Amino acid sequence: MSAPPRTNAAMKSRTNAPGDSAPSRLAVIVLAAGRGTRLPGAGPKVLVECLGYPMLEHVRRATSALTPDETVIVVGHGRELVVPWLQKHWAGARAVVQEPQHGTGHAARVAMTALSRFEGDVVVVCGDVPQVQPEDLRPLLDAHRRHHADATVLVGTAADPGRLGRIVREPSTGRLVRIVEAKDASPEVLALREYNTGVYAFRSGALRRAVADLPRANAAGEEYLTDAVGFLAASGSRVEVERAADGAALLGVNTAADLATAAVGLRRRIVARHLAAGVVVVDPEHTVIEPDVEIAPGARILPFSYVGHGCRIGPECVVGPFAHLRGGTVLERGAQIGNFVEVKATTVGAGAKAKHLTYLGDADVGADANIGCGTVTANYDGKQKHRTAIGAGAHIGSGTILVAPVTVGAGARTGANAVVAARRDVPAGATVVGVPARPLEDARKPGAGAPTGAAAPAPAAKGKARSGKAAGKGRS
Ligand code: UD1
Ligand code: CA
Repeated sequence: MSAPPRTNAAMKSRTNAPGDSAPSRLAVIVLAAGRGTRLPGAGPKVLVECLGYPMLEHVRRATSALTPDETVIVVGHGRELVVPWLQKHWAGARAVVQEPQHGTGHAARVAMTALSRFEGDVVVVCGDVPQVQPEDLRPLLDAHRRHHADATVLVGTAADPGRLGRIVREPSTGRLVRIVEAKDASPEVLALREYNTGVYAFRSGALRRAVADLPRANAAGEEYLTDAVGFLAASGSRVEVERAADGAALLGVNTAADLATAAVGLRRRIVARHLAAGVVVVDPEHTVIEPDVEIAPGARILPFSYVGHGCRIGPECVVGPFAHLRGGTVLERGAQIGNFVEVKATTVGAGAKAKHLTYLGDADVGADANIGCGTVTANYDGKQKHRTAIGAGAHIGSGTILVAPVTVGAGARTGANAVVAARRDVPAGATVVGVPARPLEDARKPGAGAPTGAAAPAPAAKGKARSGKAAGKGRS
């Protein structure tokens, strides 16, 4: 076992005595006890979904990138749902209960009781800031350490920061004086454009001191964490302000409109990242890509496509317009997914195509297979999901329904409108037609009914039409 020595070495480098160059220890506190009364829908606010994940998951990703030594999540309202979520999705996080919830300052005080022996830097993040990214937190922490600050506030700028806390600076020095909540603000303060993102870095000792005795003399009757920052500024501690890299981002989510704004902001940041990596996103404003999507440079994502988290898109692939790729979709080199095609938990082999009006769920599609317009993998029998395998070079005729579990062999063909029944696998190279699908040779035998793959017309009608046509041809 090689893990223990490595762990020891890592711990040693983090616990070095002050004065040497090793970074100080780091704790992260996430405030997630609030009610979110203005956000409609059942359940705690921090578990509300934003672009494919609960808000807390976005916060988990961003804060985990800092590799903190300690992570404390303050829970309260809805904790019967939040705590199990944490246990399942956030290894290493400790939940601390704040009951009742007397405000963000009170929440931070409760968190510090769980960190009573901790010495180092503390990053505090509100749980309702789903747009937060590692690239927001890293510069905040770096600036905080570089300035040897007691507190550093991450701020954004907006023409109208709405309900967010305003940053009040001393005009001559530009230093932060205090943060004023919108509901406590005068018109002059409300007109300020700089707002508190709800993300802070503190020195543990300073935070402990600042939250020890906060007033509740405000509009909400709560202990404000923002007052802790004001307290430190007033008592001569070093308080710094760090501007968020993406000024408009990092709006806390309180209302349904905020949630939409956050999702749009997050979406833009994700698309921008793919563009920077060389992915061709034809219309960034009309493309949704959730977090955790891998797209090879040069792949093309056409407008109005939705790519869910966990998808992988290989080089030279084309997706859309109007395609929906859901979790577990893998497109290998040069695969093409066209309009009104939904793909879920499916691997589409190199060069394979499904260009129109198709559902591929729980399937494996071989290289260069062609999936005709209107193909459906019927993957659900009402109780369970089943898989469909489509071999390399297979040619699935338009309107085919493949009832899973079923395999279509390499190079096999299905006629238009064929319904391939469950477990009636199609051998490699074979052609099946009709409803239920059977080998083309059988369908052609005398008395076997429709002689072609077109399943729809009754045999008699079909026969008549054919012979009529043939007769007509013969006469002309
Ligand atoms: C807070 C800030 C505000 C900032 C904004 C950014 C305060 C007083 N105000 O306002 O300056 O612009 O965030 O989004 O801090 N929470 C608890 N326990 C509580 C109360 C809240 O854990 O008792 C949690 C909530 O779950 C939430 C976060 O703290 O995740 C922020 O609380 P919220 O009530 O949304 O604060 P805002 O009014 O948005
Ligand atoms: Ca908020």
